[in-house]
Amino acid sequence: MRSNLGSLSQQLSRVAARQRVRNGWICQSCRVNQARCKPFSTSSALQKAIDNPYYVTTPIFYVNAAPHVGHLYSMLVADVLKRWQVLKGNRAILSTGTDEHGMKVQQAARLQDLHPKAMCDANSEAFRDLANKANIDYDFFIRTTDPQHKEAVEFFWNRLKESGYIYETVHEGWYCVSDETYYPENMIEKRISPLTGKGYMASVETGNMVEWQEEHNYHFRLTAFKDRLLKFYAANPRFMFPQARFHEMVDWVENNLEDLSISRPTSRLEWGIPVPDDPKQVIYVWVDALINYLTVTGYPMWPPGAEHTKGWPANVHVVGKDIMRFHCVYWPALLMAVDLPLPKTVVSHGHWLMGKQKMSKSTRNVVNPFFALDRWGVDVMRYFLIHKGSMAKDSDYSNVFIVDQYKKGLKNGLGNLLNRVTQPKQWNLRDAVIACCGDMFDQFTGDIADQRRRIQTLLPTAEEHMDKFNPRRALRGIMAVIYDTQVYLSNTEPWNKTAEEDRKEVNQIVFHAAETLRVAGILLQPFMPEKMSELLDVLGVSIDRRTCQYAKLQVDYSYGTPFVPIVKGAAGSLFPPIPVED
Ligand code: ME8
Ligand code: MG
Repeated sequence: MRSNLGSLSQQLSRVAARQRVRNGWICQSCRVNQARCKPFSTSSALQKAIDNPYYVTTPIFYVNAAPHVGHLYSMLVADVLKRWQVLKGNRAILSTGTDEHGMKVQQAARLQDLHPKAMCDANSEAFRDLANKANIDYDFFIRTTDPQHKEAVEFFWNRLKESGYIYETVHEGWYCVSDETYYPENMIEKRISPLTGKGYMASVETGNMVEWQEEHNYHFRLTAFKDRLLKFYAANPRFMFPQARFHEMVDWVENNLEDLSISRPTSRLEWGIPVPDDPKQVIYVWVDALINYLTVTGYPMWPPGAEHTKGWPANVHVVGKDIMRFHCVYWPALLMAVDLPLPKTVVSHGHWLMGKQKMSKSTRNVVNPFFALDRWGVDVMRYFLIHKGSMAKDSDYSNVFIVDQYKKGLKNGLGNLLNRVTQPKQWNLRDAVIACCGDMFDQFTGDIADQRRRIQTLLPTAEEHMDKFNPRRALRGIMAVIYDTQVYLSNTEPWNKTAEEDRKEVNQIVFHAAETLRVAGILLQPFMPEKMSELLDVLGVSIDRRTCQYAKLQVDYSYGTPFVPIVKGAAGSLFPPIPVED
């Protein structure tokens, strides 16, 4: 093996030189632009049409107010899921957008003395700006006021009508404008306003005010789908994540299912899509909104015989836990009624809290995500939100947590490890990679053997968690290895091994730390795309070797020569110290 090193090393430097030509030793500013071009973004519309893409969605957000950190979180979870698929070599598409009709939006516009469309235009733009600013790799931004969406909804409505599951009746019940839903009697309660001392009726679930309403409208015979829904859940254990939410939904279907009012009289609500052939009624905003997921795929104009090539059925709907019922009960039943395939999975996440209360547009206890992204940086916020946010539970938002996470995970963790591996004069990373190239390490014991095992667990552990739609656990799993690697380096102390006879061992120690960073850096790209692109540039990992298939020990020996000049000290750090005012 060793005797071949000379020629092997020559070969390797030729490979590296070729890569440099391919990667072009691009100047720093072009590199940044290249990163903006997103090596992972989806390809042309044509290619999408031929493939069956992995289709991820976010909820579409009401435009009654500006976006907050909760909305950013849903976008981010969906983005990480999409980018993970791309990392695995799959074609994936992501859609997000805004929900612009309904009572809630109509009322908000009236309060501001604006035409609803003018308010929608301004606020929808804010959600789009947020997606762009947070580096969400979305392929579609849908607005429910888009003409093609109106056509899709009308088509769907007509199919529903033909199905025989729609009937007209007088509806009486407790309606909540804030939640845009009727609640059954057993889900409302009397509350006292702390401000006025007056009593009012409210939803037990959300605490939002409900009003008694009686109106003539169209109903969807949801109760007819009870058995089919329960059978579907039983046959599809991967339909809902986290699995704990499964029981809540089954319980709801077993005990609370009622037919669904799916239109409003125009006397009450004008701002919506009119019911085809009945200008006195407007389609219920939730029916309108759910159909967005179909509109994005070009519904109903799917290519005959190749319907799935446009993305439907969706692989994952990402939603907050507050709208699970709409996605896991109403939506599948509506799709069953018109004979369309059902989405594969609905992933719900917990809420962000401020002062122990759900961050919400109506309570206004919100964090402005634009300020937060400016203050902390895009990837730092992405890291923090995924690391601290939870799929199952609610999470407290606080700047103190952000600073702590930054110091521990990013500055002292990943950033410091990268400096330790790439900066010292005692070794040269490229030489360490070449020295260890092709070596059989089975004989290793002690610290290096342990480190090898850690590297080997990185991909399977991340995959296991991502397969259960838990990006937080995947991220934490990778970070745990980073922390262990710090300890590994402190134990092995390569910087103290300066004798010539230690060179081989030093190279091996450094090589394994670098391998950890290379593999972790690849796997962390969906979480922190820009920062990880910088990290892999510093390690000199070729652009075309940054996918999951390379996230394994000793599958790439071509790296080690940085693509960017190494700037020593804090200023050159991937995660420099941040000035903290409070
Ligand atoms: O419900 N923490 O829109 P919406 C975490 N238009 N996530 C939060 C959050 C918080 N505090 N607050 C909101 C609607 N979200 C409908 C959806 S989909 C066909 C129609 C996120 O503006 C979370 O994903 O009220 C929640 O489900 C969504 O924003 C609701 O946004
Ligand atoms: Mg809401």
